[in-house]
Amino acid sequence: MSAAVPIQGNRFCIVGGASLVGSATASELLDHGAAEVVLFDNFAFGSEAAIAHLKDHPRLRLVRGDVMRLSDLLRVTEGMAGVLQLAAYMTLSMDRDPWGGLDVNIRGVQNALEACRANQVRKVVFASSNAAYGYGPGVAGDLVESTPFHSQGAPPAAILYGATKIIGEQLCRDAFRKWGQDYVVLRYSTVYGERQHHRAANALYIIETLEKLRRGEAPEIFGDGSETKHFVYVGDLARANRLAFESAASDVAVNTSGPAPITTRDLVLLVTELAGGGPAPKSVGHAAGKVRLTSGGAFRIAHEAAQAAIGWQPEVDMREGLRRLIAWLDSGNDRR
Ligand SMILES: NC(=O)c1ccc[n+]([C@@H]2O[C@H](COP(=O)([O-])OP(=O)(O)OC[C@H]3O[C@@H](n4cnc5c(N)ncnc54)[C@H](O)[C@@H]3O)[C@@H](O)[C@H]2O)c1
Repeated sequence: MSAAVPIQGNRFCIVGGASLVGSATASELLDHGAAEVVLFDNFAFGSEAAIAHLKDHPRLRLVRGDVMRLSDLLRVTEGMAGVLQLAAYMTLSMDRDPWGGLDVNIRGVQNALEACRANQVRKVVFASSNAAYGYGPGVAGDLVESTPFHSQGAPPAAILYGATKIIGEQLCRDAFRKWGQDYVVLRYSTVYGERQHHRAANALYIIETLEKLRRGEAPEIFGDGSETKHFVYVGDLARANRLAFESAASDVAVNTSGPAPITTRDLVLLVTELAGGGPAPKSVGHAAGKVRLTSGGAFRIAHEAAQAAIGWQPEVDMREGLRRLIAWLDSGNDRR
């Protein structure tokens, strides 16, 4: 049987759906004719505000529940053709509460897969991360899907987070091998866009830069500003999630990154330009006590395999994506 799950007329559950990626993907699936989209969330991080734009949609349902309770997941995945597994602690939350993070990112994924087995859900899309390549000096060059995990010289929380994503991916592979569960793993790079939260270190840097500029202060760059970041616009990711369901691909993990990486200096200069100007950036050292995600040098997260597997490539470049994010922040939507 083909692993392709059409969106039109089918029901989908987004586990951890009251989120940045969940809210954008719900709109994408509803716009493409999903019979129903269920957002399952315990609101540990997500919020009603993140999904306010969908509140009155007739084909959207919000279910409060916890991925740590298998019974909740068994109920919510009944009758679903596809499940998008998003619920997770990212690095900053993992730093504050590794116990909770390890539980949700590992047992929570296992529970979701088990519920999908019981309810014969046709396909799972699992939100992994470029954190699956690790951080620290040694992460450089083109990161392709076979690039190994690097754990030296990075904050423990970042490595714990990346390791849980590798485990989540392997739980999907295990489910495929044991009971033929079709799945696609998408390794998102740093997400940014409308309904941006403050939980992801790199996207938070964009917000903090903008806030400094709005206060008339000089934005900060670390060292000489040559450090690379590789973002992806949230709307592009929502489309990747949809295509992962619709494509015949299964038992595969691919990167989903934006069109091109950017140095922190260029990022700050672009934000300054889009914000209408401001003071020149100042170079600072390592901010004590802050979790920062660093790499060894210039890197690019290669996304060509996603084109081959699910027919996806990014469309929104940093200039356009940042313009949309800044417009959204400037209209009083910022979420703390
Ligand atoms: N944001 C990024 O930059 C980024 C980058 C790479 C990968 N990812 C991955 O993409 C996914 C979505 O990211 P996001 O930025 O939209 O995250 P988010 O923090 O907005 O969403 C995670 C959601 O999971 C929910 N959740 C947490 N614990 C739960 C539990 N026990 N039961 C039910 N729900 C629970 C939270 O309330 C939240 O709504 C995550 O898996 C994340 O690891 C994100």
